[in-house]
Amino acid sequence: MSTTSPAGRAAVAELAEHANQRERLAWYADMARWAPSKHNSQPWCFEIRDGRLELASDPQRALRVTDPVGREMVISLGAAVHVATVAMRSRGYEPTLRLLPDGRVRLAEGAPREVRDDDRLLCREISRRRTDRGPLDASGLSRSLPFLLQSAASAYGVTLRLVTAEGDRRSLAALVERADRLLVQQHGVDDELRPWLRDARDARSDGVPASHTRGAAASYRAEFVQRDFSTGTSAPGQDRPGRDAAMVGVLCTAGDTSADWLAAGQALSSVLLRASTSGAHASYLNQPLELPALRAELQRDLLLPGPPQVVLRLGVGGPVAPPPRRPVQDVLRYG
Ligand SMILES: Cc1cc2nc3c(=O)[nH]c(=O)nc-3n(C[C@H](O)[C@H](O)[C@H](O)COP(=O)(O)O)c2cc1C
Repeated sequence: MSTTSPAGRAAVAELAEHANQRERLAWYADMARWAPSKHNSQPWCFEIRDGRLELASDPQRALRVTDPVGREMVISLGAAVHVATVAMRSRGYEPTLRLLPDGRVRLAEGAPREVRDDDRLLCREISRRRTDRGPLDASGLSRSLPFLLQSAASAYGVTLRLVTAEGDRRSLAALVERADRLLVQQHGVDDELRPWLRDARDARSDGVPASHTRGAAASYRAEFVQRDFSTGTSAPGQDRPGRDAAMVGVLCTAGDTSADWLAAGQALSSVLLRASTSGAHASYLNQPLELPALRAELQRDLLLPGPPQVVLRLGVGGPVAPPPRRPVQDVLRYG
């Protein structure tokens, strides 16, 4: 028989609930680490305080040469925020989000909600989603997928403009190639990328495995030039045979503020997880977005409804091992 008073039992129950909530919040942070980020820089830090999870950019991981205003850093943060909300829904809580004036995002468990099959499905994709720079084939994907992806983006006020006309694809390809050359020639770009390249025996928990590339030669023969992540000693593991007929889309926002970038990151993660439920991988054609004149040209040429934030290829690819992530204890602290 328990000797604890009713008040004591209530306190214990509250403590247990609190402990469970802390565990859940830690798990949401754990899952958020699997969001995509530029150069796998994982430019975020998380904190649990007052029963909430706060997510913030980590300026020490900024890529100031190609992302001087932190636009892509905030997009990466937005993707992490989205992944945390997907994890939260799968545990039966409606996420409530608050953007704080200093750019932190405060995520709290809102009302309990029924866990739907779709919540579980999306949560399962967090660890299965892959960036794949090799040939991607969209021809076998369901005909409804483009609409599902567009509505995934529009839930965040972001437009996913699909690039379908031959002429538009050619214009985009030419612009990406031009941007890729200009970036390679631009002072500091190579020096910024090199510290994030990881050869096979490099066990660091961030950066891009140097095999996760198509290689410059194969990439320049393909429809779209991909950013090259090779080192002098690596083999381009994503240079494989296969049909290369990707769906191509551009995520566009209404404005170009940090709130727009955060929404773009949430939309990006939502599109990627939804695509992953159909077995599709993704890769990025973001080179023109890192050169203001070419970014404006892209918006003009493709008659985009607003500033382009991310350019994506989507389709079924090959096997890709998960790139590394920093351990949760390195990114999460308790306030
Ligand atoms: C904002 C942003 C920009 C990115 N830009 C590029 C890019 O230009 N080229 C590229 O190949 N991958 C790009 N990526 C993909 C990252 O390299 C990738 O997410 C990271 O290496 C981790 O791999 P994963 O997505 O398979 O987990 C970008 C990702 C984000 C979120």
